[in-house]
Formats: sequence, C-alpha cells, structure tokens
Amino acid sequence: MEIQKNTSAKKKEILEKQKKYLFPNHLTYYTEPLPLEKGEGLYVWDVEGNKYLDFFAGILVTSVGHSRPEVNRAVQEQTEKLAHASTLYPVDSHVNLAEKLAELATGEISMSYFSPSGTEANEAAIMLAKVHTGNQEIVALRHGYSGRSMVGMALTGQSSWRIGGTHISGVKHALNPYCYRCPLKMTYPSCGAACAEDVEEVIKTTTSGRIAAFLAEPIQGVGGYITPPKEYFKIVKEVIQHYGGLFISDEVQSGFGRTGNKWWGIEHWEVEPDIMTMAKGIANGFPLGNTMTRPDIAESTRNAGLTISTFGGNPVACAASLATIEVMENEAHPQHVAEVGKILRAGLEKLQEQYPFIGDVRGKGLMQAMEIVEDPATKEPAPKQANHIMESCKGYGLIIGKGGLYGNTIRIAPPLTANEEHIQEALEKLAKALKEVAKSA
Ligand SMILES: Cc1ncc(COP(=O)(O)O)c(C=O)c1O
Repeated sequence: MEIQKNTSAKKKEILEKQKKYLFPNHLTYYTEPLPLEKGEGLYVWDVEGNKYLDFFAGILVTSVGHSRPEVNRAVQEQTEKLAHASTLYPVDSHVNLAEKLAELATGEISMSYFSPSGTEANEAAIMLAKVHTGNQEIVALRHGYSGRSMVGMALTGQSSWRIGGTHISGVKHALNPYCYRCPLKMTYPSCGAACAEDVEEVIKTTTSGRIAAFLAEPIQGVGGYITPPKEYFKIVKEVIQHYGGLFISDEVQSGFGRTGNKWWGIEHWEVEPDIMTMAKGIANGFPLGNTMTRPDIAESTRNAGLTISTFGGNPVACAASLATIEVMENEAHPQHVAEVGKILRAGLEKLQEQYPFIGDVRGKGLMQAMEIVEDPATKEPAPKQANHIMESCKGYGLIIGKGGLYGNTIRIAPPLTANEEHIQEALEKLAKALKEVAKSA
C-alpha cells in the first residue's frame, strides 16, 4: 500500500458535515469517502496530503488536467471583467464559444443553446425535437443515462438512477446494443446488429407511430462504456427518420475528443446527428452544457415561445471553455487521445489475459472499461470484486471510476492530456491492485 490510512481532524470534520448537511443519496466512492483538496495536471491530493493519479477526471470533466494555468488565467481575466450577464445580454466569450463550437461540430450543426449542465442540455434537446417535429414521444436506450431532472431521469434507462417515480409519459426504451450481454442472446457479427431493429418495434408497438426523437450516447457512459456495434446507429438513424424523429447524440461523456481520432463519439459510427448535447469536458470543470443543432432546426424555436437561461452561457464558463479547447487543440488533440488510448487499451487487454475475472474490455480512446465477472463462462456480474479493485487502486494512489447496471464495471477516463508515462504509471498501479484482489478471491 502506498497511501497511509489516516483520519485527520480535517478529514473527520468534512465527512461529518457531509453526513449532516448533504442529502444522503449523494453517491460517494469508497467505503470511506475521499475528501480532495487540490489538483494539478493528472494528480489530485486529499486533505491529508496523499497524492493520487486521477484516471477518472472528476467524471470525465477535467479534460486538460486539474488547475490548468491557461484555463485559470482565462477565468481570472473574465471574472475581473464581467462574471455574469445572463442570456439577456450578448457577451463576447458566449458568442465566441458558439462560433468555435460551430467550427468543431459535425456536418451542418452550427447553432448553440448553452445551459449550466448536461442534464439541461438534454432537456433543451428534447424541447427542440418536440418543437421542430410537432411529435411528442422519445425513444432512449435501456442502459443510457441522461441526467437528474425529471425528464433526464425519465430518459435514463437504469432503475437505480430514476428517483421518485419518473412517469413522464412518452419516453420509451429500446433494447441496448450490448454485445457482451446481448439482450437477444445472439452473437456479433452473425446477429447482423439485430438489436437495432428493436427501435422500430418499440416505435410501432409502444408509441403513436410518430416520434420526436431518439436520444442515445454513442458509448453508454454510466452504463459502463457499452460500445454499440459499428452498424448500429446507421440502421437506427434510418428508422428514426422514417417515423418523423430527430437523432440526438448525447456527447456529454464522449465529446471533445474523448474517444480518440474524432471530436465527437458519434463520428465513429459515420452518422450525422440532428442534435448534439455536450457538457463535462467542455470547460475543464466550470459548469457548462450546450445543445447544438442545424440552423433549420434551431429556426423552429423562433416563434415557439421565449427562453432565457440565467446561468447558461455564463461569461466565465465560456472563457474557461475557449481556453480548454485551445489547450486540447495544441496538446490533447483527438489524434493524441487515440495514440495514448491505444497504449491504455493494450495494457488492459494484457491484464485481461492474466485475470479471468476481467470479462470484457471495451471503449474507445481514453474512455475504457473492464467488466468484472465471477467467471468468464457464466459472466455473472461481480460488483463486490469491482469495489475491491476500486479500493485497492485507491490504496496504490490511483483513482478510477465505476458504472454499469450491475455495478461491476471499472471505468477508466483520465484527462485527455495524459501522456504515455501517465498511462504506464496507471497500468502499474492497476496491476498491483488486481494482483491483490486475485490473491484474496
Ligand atoms: C451521458 C450523460 N448525459 C447527461 C449527463 C448529465 O450531466 P450533468 O451531471 O452535467 O447534469 C451525464 C452525467 O453523468 C451523462 O453522463
């Protein structure tokens, strides 16, 4: 173990206040939650001064590393000029970011609606699809995650994230393309991506037959980096169009080069979405979400009713985002992500050869997952073992994430500025942790 188990007065105080003043359903990682104090680049420090290599980036957010000087400078300069305006007044960082994102977005997508989070970006996308098509119903995926609002939770498939009875009518869930646990008990590629046909079945049997949209993450993030087969979205896009709907690609996790080689996750499937939503890595930790679409679709909102966002397009968050994107373009370009992602993936596959409890390794770029199972033959999920891996990695000074419907998938997603040495350091720590877990099994 590299990290000393210790309980300082400061840590005790933070954990006690967390318990006393914050809602009890806040999910915190680890048996004893980890209070963080400072971050720099790929590393964070806890309140007791222990140093960790951060391979989860605050849920895929600190895309150019913690406390990045260029981002800090942009934030400070903007804060000193104008920290807030609301969308009632045009501000340069707001329109400049919209212009920059129009350059990076796919196809003809060029218009933005900023908000403070991924949840709201998805809310706005649903509003937009309904206004544009005149249809009401939405199809989403069973292992998808879309946010914490009532609509966000209704779109979300996994029951554990649907709090308070999310009976918002009109949201239906299609079978998830999940090759490791095929819902149709078929095998890829002989299945011919049969799961894609379920979208049509859902529309025909559970909706009015006309839909506003199909919303999906190209790689289901909270779902455990489930990566659909390469034909999936092409087949689905045709079906959606046929039934009058728009395709919303939720790029909250997979956007900004995270998947390597491309700026947006959906580009790997060679499909043009009608709407894209983004947040998380957009501004390196400053709260910002965005809903983007083509001008003809955005035009539908003109006479549909008014909108404001008090914090959407906040000048400081937009300045942080512009600085973040500039660093990405210089240092953490999608090509870089693909290169280091390949090393990470090869390292994980090597570990899989050694440890049969790593049932599946999947993902793209710097968005890689390992699904942990009791036995590779039965594929019975092993959530306890996944927790053990998390704890053990923490002990060796490595932060990773977890997800999946069964709580058994390890999620690995470092800042995009990770270099080869960071990847090797993480793989070494992970190898030590896996050895420890295997020994105790
Ligand atoms: C794919 C996806 N969409 C939307 C959201 C919601 O974003 P936020 O937490 O910023 O509201 C998340 C959050 O994890 C997400 O992973």
